[in-house]
Amino acid sequence: MFTREEALERVEGARSPADLFGPFDAARTKEAHRLVRALALVLHPDRVGADDSRAHAASAKVSQFHRMWPHSDQVVMRTARSAYPIAGRHAVGSVANVYRTDGPQVVKVVRAAALNPLLHAEWDALRRLGRLTDQHPWLRPYYPRLVDESGDVGRGERAFTVLEALLDGFVTLADVRRAFPGGLDGRDYAWMHRRLLRAVAGAHRIGLVHGAIVAENVLVHPERHGIVLAGWTFAVTEGERLLATDKTICYPPEVRDGHPVTSATDVHMAHTLMLDLLADNEHRQRTFALGCTQDNPARRPDAVDLLTEYDELLEELYGERTFRPFALPRTGA
Ligand SMILES: Nc1ncnc2c1ncn2[C@@H]1O[C@H](COP(=O)(O)OP(=O)(O)OP(=O)(O)O)[C@@H](O)[C@H]1O
Ligand SMILES: [Mg+2]
Repeated sequence: MFTREEALERVEGARSPADLFGPFDAARTKEAHRLVRALALVLHPDRVGADDSRAHAASAKVSQFHRMWPHSDQVVMRTARSAYPIAGRHAVGSVANVYRTDGPQVVKVVRAAALNPLLHAEWDALRRLGRLTDQHPWLRPYYPRLVDESGDVGRGERAFTVLEALLDGFVTLADVRRAFPGGLDGRDYAWMHRRLLRAVAGAHRIGLVHGAIVAENVLVHPERHGIVLAGWTFAVTEGERLLATDKTICYPPEVRDGHPVTSATDVHMAHTLMLDLLADNEHRQRTFALGCTQDNPARRPDAVDLLTEYDELLEELYGERTFRPFALPRTGA
């Protein structure tokens, strides 16, 4: 029960129906009703004097917000374990939209129920990566973390994944490419590629092929030199065919031709990305990348060997490794 002052404070301070009742959730309508009744006990015109305009206004506001509440655009994604109020769209991916929540998670929702199997494949890949990083904690920063998932959903409903949010300070490699239209200095791309190779080599330890290593799927933390390989919906076990392909990816030949993929597929994709990101005059690094994008998968080096080979090239080019600060240029906005 509220005192008059408490009730007024609560109602006058609410800027939206969700402020007063919480995010809209059909399972909480009884709770909302109880709150409306409790507030009415001290604010309703029948209870207060005819000249108590403050209470009248507050009472009208409660009724209005209560009517608006189911139509407010606050959505809550529920799983067996928890509920995640959605706070706004963060990004549009190739098969899903990614939403911010009120907490330290994002929710990735497929855009059509027909794509649910792709999310199931990603859960499987992320679980396998989770077990890998439990064994090798140094690999943990390179992969997204699965927090929760929709589980089985009804016919026609869309599956979703709850992931640890990588928001503060993160951009995608696609943002980086847009920010440096002339291509990157080889010394900047060096740390990104070293880390990307680690992510790829780590997955290959457990026979997992990512299958869509493109700029949108590589999250970059410029300040901390962080790299996370995201977007695992196309991932399969080595030797399988990709479940689907991102329509924008028509390479390497084994993907284009619908043949089984291997870790060599990821090696090709990671180095196609490298050629795309590096400045034209980074001849030595570009030659290195070309060796990894040969049509015949058997001729491409293994990701694990590439870790050493790339480090050797970097040492030859730049000498001892030093931390080189990197930032995206500020836009005029
Ligand atoms: N954990 C995360 N935290 C913050 N942003 C993320 C996270 N995961 C993905 N994103 C952002 O959302 C975009 C879309 O995510 P993602 O690539 O996982 O979905 P998709 O492209 O629909 O599926 P996929 O790449 O697996 O086929 C990414 O490009 C990235 O900008
Ligand atoms: Mg993606």
